[in-house]
Amino acid sequence: MEKPPLFEGHNITVGYRDSPPIFRDLSFSIPPGEVTVILGRSGCGKSTLLKALLGLLPLRKGRLFFQGEEMNRFTEPQWDAHYRRIGVLYQNGALLNSLSLAENVALPLKIHSPHLPRPIGESIVAARLFQVGLQGSEEKLPGELSGGMKKRAALARALVLDPEVLLCDEPSAGLDPLTARGLDDLILDLKNRLGASFVVVTHEVSSIRRIADRILALEEGRLLFQGSLQEGETSQHPFLKAFFAQGAQDDQ
Ligand SMILES: Nc1ncnc2c1ncn2[C@@H]1O[C@H](COP(=O)(O)OP(=O)(O)OP(=O)(O)O)[C@@H](O)[C@H]1O
Ligand SMILES: [Mg+2]
Repeated sequence: MEKPPLFEGHNITVGYRDSPPIFRDLSFSIPPGEVTVILGRSGCGKSTLLKALLGLLPLRKGRLFFQGEEMNRFTEPQWDAHYRRIGVLYQNGALLNSLSLAENVALPLKIHSPHLPRPIGESIVAARLFQVGLQGSEEKLPGELSGGMKKRAALARALVLDPEVLLCDEPSAGLDPLTARGLDDLILDLKNRLGASFVVVTHEVSSIRRIADRILALEEGRLLFQGSLQEGETSQHPFLKAFFAQGAQDDQ
């Protein structure tokens, strides 16, 4: 049997408090086991869409499905499972300043697996820090880390529960090209080896060309485009044309 989409939105409308909606009647499908990249100008609602996928913003209209189940109908245990399955790398890293790097990375384990024996937890944290190249910095506080180190620490935290799904908000923004490339390789490795699914917000065209299977582009509160990377690259839509043409210059 074919797997249901990872996420499927049917005419969803989402906004903050009493403000006008950020997007209206948005319909999209995000397949499992692939890297879907969300594109769009600053402020168009990319981070907001990730929040909606996580279930952090109630829908004003429409229906949102995760693996074929309507999220509006989730029970408490289903929400717990949702948060356990989905790792999130927030745009600003969102590390807690009073906790060490190791404690930050261990946080999801403490919340979701409170009875896990300590040495096992410590070895998982050490493995994740190694994976992102931060071994040896366990005791540092976030304030003592560079921007790139914070990003990688936040990624280690997002990976600590072995998530099936990773939502990454501008993972390589502010990183040097080599570190950014390492992050792309990590994403591809997790996808190919573990079958993990990714929804990644990024503006980096070279990274998109390396990692994306699908593109979902937003513009002024609506869906501009969804399709394969190749369809996106050859689209005649002015935004996508300009976006990928700019990337071709950067790659030279
Ligand atoms: N917590 C919030 N409360 C109210 N409005 C918000 C909140 N977060 C974002 N917005 C508004 O929602 C709109 C979309 O913001 P969002 O952060 O989703 O954009 P974005 O596409 O991720 O932008 P960027 O590329 O700059 O990160 C903006 O107009 C922003 O002001
Ligand atoms: Mg954003």
